[in-house]
Amino acid sequence: MKIAVVGTGYVGLVAGACFAESGNDVTCVDKDAAKIRMLRRGKIPIYEPGLEELVRRNRAEGRLTFTTALDRATRASDIVFIAVGTPMGEDGSADLQQVLDVARGVARAMNGYKVVVNKSTVPVGTAVKVRDVIRRETTHPFSVVSNPEFLKQGAALEDFMKPDRVVIGAEDPRSTELMKELYAPFTRTGAPIMVMDCASAELAKYAANAMLAARVSFMNEIANVCDTVGANVDEVRMAVASDRRIGPSFLFPGVGYGGSCFPKDVKALLKFSHEHKYDFQILRAVEAVNEAQKGRMVARMEKHFGSLKGRQIAVWGLSFKPKTDDMREAPAITIVNGLLARGARVSAFDPEAEKIARGIFGSRITYSAGAYDALKGADALIVVTEWNEFRRPDFAKMKRLMRTAVIFDGRNIYNPAAMRALGFTYYSVGRP
Ligand SMILES: NC(=O)c1ccc[n+]([C@@H]2O[C@H](COP(=O)([O-])OP(=O)(O)OC[C@H]3O[C@@H](n4cnc5c(N)ncnc54)[C@H](O)[C@@H]3O)[C@@H](O)[C@H]2O)c1
Repeated sequence: MKIAVVGTGYVGLVAGACFAESGNDVTCVDKDAAKIRMLRRGKIPIYEPGLEELVRRNRAEGRLTFTTALDRATRASDIVFIAVGTPMGEDGSADLQQVLDVARGVARAMNGYKVVVNKSTVPVGTAVKVRDVIRRETTHPFSVVSNPEFLKQGAALEDFMKPDRVVIGAEDPRSTELMKELYAPFTRTGAPIMVMDCASAELAKYAANAMLAARVSFMNEIANVCDTVGANVDEVRMAVASDRRIGPSFLFPGVGYGGSCFPKDVKALLKFSHEHKYDFQILRAVEAVNEAQKGRMVARMEKHFGSLKGRQIAVWGLSFKPKTDDMREAPAITIVNGLLARGARVSAFDPEAEKIARGIFGSRITYSAGAYDALKGADALIVVTEWNEFRRPDFAKMKRLMRTAVIFDGRNIYNPAAMRALGFTYYSVGRP
């Protein structure tokens, strides 16, 4: 099939490359000319494991091209995916400007029947808005489909190639059949293609993210209770996770969730529920717990030291989770800003996010060339992101480098008893 994917971010670029990999002719479109130039040179603007190789192979084999020309890409395609950003607006709602701009651009370029697929995460009712925008601009026939994306950054290729399910919100048989055909290669292992109305498809994405965010906040609260009553969240978590009705995923306490999706999607779901006169009480608590959780480790540090003024704090990990360079809404931002506000000096290391971090913190912190480098003369280390390379470090070397051997483990990656036996003062989340 001939496909255009508009937006070459984490979702669009992965979707485009994976559709090309399954034999389609894909044109990826972005309005960011620098990004397109980079992609044409075979360089990837983001860090996502395996993506560079996939893009390179499909480009070389002629199935994947890059352009800034939405009109030409639309005319050459049967299906146009909208995979642009839907950032948080000032009032917390999803900002649909980019989505509607693309819809308008696609409509103006139409030269026959097109399926316009919304892959961006959008509030219920957006398919109707997209349809209205297109209808105002063209007399050509078209279908609007809602196809939310469930991939995880850091494992995006695997998730796209082998999805748990494909959700298709469609309202006519022609576009439904085309979408089923397009996704057939990705669902051979038996993953269901779920066809539903557009409103349900749009809401399904928010419901999934809100449920995951709720699990994180719930476990963070259980961990906080563990801290106050002297229980161990690892034991509690395993007991809870072995219940088949609950399962083990997304039950790890930590420094709060972040990223480009959970915070904004929780806010948007709250907002559009409220606009429809529904008060989504649980979600308000999920959000408030998360905000508080991001500040807890810094408060514990302050308690430990009395004052953080003049203290040198090493920070391991800045991205919102491992295997990505994405720092959107990362807990590290709140933590580092909290440390700086209390007069601490910060030396940070992240395997992939340094460039983005420089754009956020500028020269207010120092950027270390490696994990051990960040520890030189440090009064304490805080582990913010659980990159694999932090999991089994040389603890004797760490002690030699640090001024005082104090670790605040925001991700529970070390064993408390072992750390104490090694002579560290060790704090983690919900474990005695
Ligand atoms: N990142 C994720 O893990 C993830 C997962 C599932 C769903 N989503 C959703 O998918 C959507 C895209 O997310 P992302 O993380 O890929 O965003 P992103 O910010 O990484 O990429 C968006 C891209 O769209 C481009 N763009 C914006 N307006 C454009 C226009 N008018 N024409 C052409 N290109 C334009 C931008 O230049 C940018 O490259 C969002 O709605 C997001 O909520 C994201």
